[in-house]
Amino acid sequence: MSNINNARAASASGLDKVVAAETALSHVDGEAGRLIIAGYDIEALVATHDFEAAAALLWATAGLDPVPDAESVRRQLGEARVAAFSLVPVLLAATRGLTVTEGLRAGLSLLADDDASGMPDHIRAVGAVPVFVAALCRREAGEAAVAPVADAGHAADFLRMLRGMPGSAAEVEALNAYLVTVMDHGMNASTFTARVIASTRAGLISSVVGALCALKGPLHGGAPGPVLDMLDDIGTRANIRPWLAREIEKGERLMGFGHRVYKVRDPRADVFNKAVMLLTNGNERIRFARDVEAVALATLKEMKPDQRLDTNMEYYTAVLLEALDIPRSAVTAVFALSRIAGWSAHVMEQERVGRLIRPQSSYIGNWPDERAA
Ligand code: ACO
Repeated sequence: MSNINNARAASASGLDKVVAAETALSHVDGEAGRLIIAGYDIEALVATHDFEAAAALLWATAGLDPVPDAESVRRQLGEARVAAFSLVPVLLAATRGLTVTEGLRAGLSLLADDDASGMPDHIRAVGAVPVFVAALCRREAGEAAVAPVADAGHAADFLRMLRGMPGSAAEVEALNAYLVTVMDHGMNASTFTARVIASTRAGLISSVVGALCALKGPLHGGAPGPVLDMLDDIGTRANIRPWLAREIEKGERLMGFGHRVYKVRDPRADVFNKAVMLLTNGNERIRFARDVEAVALATLKEMKPDQRLDTNMEYYTAVLLEALDIPRSAVTAVFALSRIAGWSAHVMEQERVGRLIRPQSSYIGNWPDERAA
């Protein structure tokens, strides 16, 4: 195959630039480094909304009736966290030996599509995640699960269930900034997965379980753990450049760099960088991460001159969640804690479209008459 055909095949196999849906939920401008969520630039949304308010905004934008507001969402999610806690013994018994993300996948599968509780599916799903993730993390640390508090904020209650004691106001603010920032991001792989499943009318819970499976991979939401492993492995400033160059020479990808849509710096990286600076006052770990980032960008430019590779949000997600003492094994599940609100909004939007997503493939196998020859 010629190089041009190779490039075409690679692009088609990744559906680059293919428009798969219309959405009012978010827009990613990869050339300008701009992310708009429900009419807000991401920086403005983070400055004015906590998790519940941003989720209410997304669900209202998706056409949810009655139109939700931050307070009704706060109350409903508190009730949903309490309801989910009754499933924790079953969850822990069923997930021995699984990672936190795999455990969360099993936990969401315990929920019925369209159950008889009267609690909306998106509320049950979003409310269950912090409860399950905290219990799974505490099991890893040999600790008993901590019950939710219905009238606490979603972010604050997660930190409290995770640690067994409340986080500081600055930590809750930083976690809210993270959760709002990653809530939705155009037609990324996990959101597309959710919409495909929703288009079959399988239901919201089934759609978000599938989305979580797509999020788990290191090319999507699984990168922050490996980013921290990379920082640890590099270890010293003298080792930064040789370590990175060796990895690229071996054909490995540097975790936290490159993006299908952003060809400039991911604007979410700057939001996290700001939050982590406030939280840590720019400690040695952050200074080291910044030094690694600078050398990585220079090395990628030199060794991959034909690619436009910049820092993606997973790089600073890693250092921000580490500064919040979130266990490394839980970073992808904490991403899901937020993104599930976005997936739910996309499911609502897709269900209103009501049409099955069913693309075509191009057959490159043998025809029956050729097979015999
Ligand atoms: N390090 C080194 N090389 C890279 C990187 C990287 N991080 N990212 C892409 N490249 C190279 C590829 O090796 C390839 O080069 P080649 O043609 O010489 O082999 C070229 O750039 C194009 O790569 P594609 O895979 O076609 O680009 P794609 O648009 O599919 O990549 C992706 C996007 C998957 C995010 C990629 O940049 C990557 O693997 N990054 C590392 C993992 C990561 O950070 N994931 C989190 C993404 S953010 C999120 O999902 C929330």
